[in-house]
Amino acid sequence: MPGLGHLPRLARDPLALLRALHAEGPVLRLDIGTMPVVYVTSADAVHEVMVKKARSFNKGRLFKRVGKIFGEGMANADGEKHRKNRRLIQPIFYKERLEGYARTMSGKAKSLADSWSDGQTIDAHQVMSTYAIETLAATLFSADLGGPAVQSVREDLPVILRNMLRRALAPPSLDNLPIWRSFNRSADRMRVVIDEVITATRASHPEERTDLLSLLLSARDDDGEGLTDAEVHDELTTMLFAGTETIASTLAWTLYHLSQRPDVEKEILREIDKVIGGDRPVTFDDVRQLPSIKRVLDEVIRLHGVVTLMRRTTERVTIGGHEIPAETEVLLSLYALHRHPELYPDPDRFDPDRWLPESADARPRHHVVPFGAGNRKCIGDSFAWMEATITLATILPRWCLRSVQGSTPPQEATASMAHPTAVPMVISRRQNA
Ligand code: HEM
Repeated sequence: MPGLGHLPRLARDPLALLRALHAEGPVLRLDIGTMPVVYVTSADAVHEVMVKKARSFNKGRLFKRVGKIFGEGMANADGEKHRKNRRLIQPIFYKERLEGYARTMSGKAKSLADSWSDGQTIDAHQVMSTYAIETLAATLFSADLGGPAVQSVREDLPVILRNMLRRALAPPSLDNLPIWRSFNRSADRMRVVIDEVITATRASHPEERTDLLSLLLSARDDDGEGLTDAEVHDELTTMLFAGTETIASTLAWTLYHLSQRPDVEKEILREIDKVIGGDRPVTFDDVRQLPSIKRVLDEVIRLHGVVTLMRRTTERVTIGGHEIPAETEVLLSLYALHRHPELYPDPDRFDPDRWLPESADARPRHHVVPFGAGNRKCIGDSFAWMEATITLATILPRWCLRSVQGSTPPQEATASMAHPTAVPMVISRRQNA
């Protein structure tokens, strides 16, 4: 449409449009209002952008705007700042650290399972959103110092996440309009409590603690340089944005799909019984012995993954055989890529068997990129998989969850995932739980 381009169709049903365009070719032009955007659709062209020619791209306009609102965390930063912070932060997600976070996650999952009662109806998406926020907050902040921060994150983060994409797309001149009042209030409150918890943790020997914030404060590179408090603030905020809705959506979809496939659920329960076999907490070492949960998570994330990633060319570059000028905004959709019928036959069907070794090993690696690839690949991928696995292995043997509505819950594109709008489920206690 003149002046609006593809914006009306994109606003009406972004998931449908992004998928439909995949049939049109590997590199396309979309007009979002008056802004031309290059939409890269094929697995090969996406690989060029994320890995082979990553040096010719930065994160682009949308992320710059998010960076202006919430600070330059790793996901928004470019160039040397991105490299430096990523190198400093990476060890926080190494195996020896994950073992400690696993204990916190296991405790949180047990508390969630203990809070339910027989016959109760829940909205699995709502429940998992609160749970994901509380679990990440519990690994981020030390129990004795983090109380007010956890409280604020629980209340304010959902308000921010719900509106972040709209806010990033809106012109900055409108930031103080009354419609943004609750958003601004939540953003201000979270900023203040995060600063307070950083100051308190900095003053209380962070080098002796193992929560994520203390590790960020003690991180040093080879020259002994660390992060400033302002940088720690931005990285913490980034993790809260990147690591809550993604996990909540994955868990809610998993519970929904399992309720539709009792045969798959039964296989998982048998495996959990064999590996854990009782009421003990699920540990870090248990996680890799539960491959049938991993197959289900792989399939859930294929079907409901990250909807849009953005980049901008920093120089003229050839993608999929097309010359793209410098300063061009580029759009990728992992959601659409992973539902491409040429890569995945019958792409809308939930089928965890796609991830049995004989099928998965035959698939080219760059066809499967739920966590991105290259120098910007998700830093929290193992953390996310561990949290999702521990949660499912704790809940499923105790509770049977069944979807109340017959059809698949409607899904909605947000700043990150294709998440379900609501997943009403009835829960009943398993007889041998
Ligand atoms: C199912 C869960 C998750 C999914 C599907 C997911 C997906 C992704 C994807 C696709 C990217 C790449 C973005 C890009 O290329 O522009 C990314 C980046 C990132 N993710 Fe995740 N993520 C998940 C969970 C987490 C968790 C739990 C954390 C932290 C605790 C996290 C922290 C980050 C950060 C900091 C980045 C930016 C990395 C960089 O730019 O170097 N994510 N994530």
